[in-house]
Amino acid sequence: MRDSGFPMVAYLIRRAPGMRAVVRDRNYKFKGRLPASLTWVASAIAPMIFEHVPTGGCQSYLVGCEETRAAVLIDPEITQLDRYLGLAAHNGLHVRYLLDTHTHADHFTATAELRRRLEVPIVMHRDSPAPFVDMRVDDGEMIALGRLRLRVLHTPGHTRDSMCLVVEDRVFTGDTLLIGATGRTDLPSGDPEALYDSLFERLLRLDPALKVFPAHEYKGRSHSTLAQEAAENPRLQQRERAGFVAMMRNLNLTMPKHITEALRVNMSGGRSVAQLLAEAGARVPFMSLAELHGHVQAASPGLVILDVREREAFERGHVPGARLLPRGQLELRVNTELPDPTQRILAYCELGQISTFAAATLRDMGYQRAVALDGGMQAWRAAGYPVAV
Ligand SMILES: [Fe+2]
Repeated sequence: MRDSGFPMVAYLIRRAPGMRAVVRDRNYKFKGRLPASLTWVASAIAPMIFEHVPTGGCQSYLVGCEETRAAVLIDPEITQLDRYLGLAAHNGLHVRYLLDTHTHADHFTATAELRRRLEVPIVMHRDSPAPFVDMRVDDGEMIALGRLRLRVLHTPGHTRDSMCLVVEDRVFTGDTLLIGATGRTDLPSGDPEALYDSLFERLLRLDPALKVFPAHEYKGRSHSTLAQEAAENPRLQQRERAGFVAMMRNLNLTMPKHITEALRVNMSGGRSVAQLLAEAGARVPFMSLAELHGHVQAASPGLVILDVREREAFERGHVPGARLLPRGQLELRVNTELPDPTQRILAYCELGQISTFAAATLRDMGYQRAVALDGGMQAWRAAGYPVAV
């Protein structure tokens, strides 16, 4: 949607120093001249399309130039892929850049997957450890987005590769500055001394009226301003370096969930387990427990029921009529176990995840009637269906 934060009379035409700026409205109609006493003459404010996508505590942003429809996705998160693409299409935007403000340790970036789909560059700071970054940027540089300019401010501290992006009336602060907090400095490449410099020597020296849009916000607030944060953010009240650093070193925060996997994925461009599962799940149909029960009762000869768990689990109890073929042996044993590729095959496991991978593998191998159980042995037992031993 069009951002309503801009005043109606918002367009100033750049003038040579000393000349008075001409003020025009959205349609470039002449609205008068600024008083000569105003010294901040003439920075053009370009109209922006702005979408904010919260995912739990993670915040991502779609920013587009209204005139040219070029857009950037900032800190996209993997579970929101379809939403981002839908929002871009809804707004008539062409996503030109995928940008991470830093290497995230607590959620999975969608930049690598979106690049596979959109074939546009991934932008990160020069110090990013990720080998898949296409466009490395440095402090003071700008990313051109039609009439918009995103200015890079290198703000290490939360991570070494953290950057903030200033565009028009707002600043995307990543995890350098949050609403009422700051990013933590105890994760890989974090440095409280650097964060102090980034906050007090860089960020807080910008225009206090700039709106702050962080990468995390857990209380549902959309944004604040630098002035508000300087006045009210408890961590920014520690204005002395030593006090600030000591405070950051003594936060004793718990480690984020999935930190190992998040760093692996975000630093390598690889896929998370959830992503692999979602991709496998998108390629196979599922069968309900009740439908399978119907087949078991009818002793359907046309359905091969394949238990893909390990032998021990199978022997403790399985779906009546099921055959054992553990997932780990699937590829090597299909030729002898499943000689007919036209057979209808139902794969199940304990929880319904391994069987999804198994059914996808079977489909890859030519078993075009392979399906996965929607649920697993655990749900089968819980539903009171018969168990054979
Ligand atoms: Fe972070």
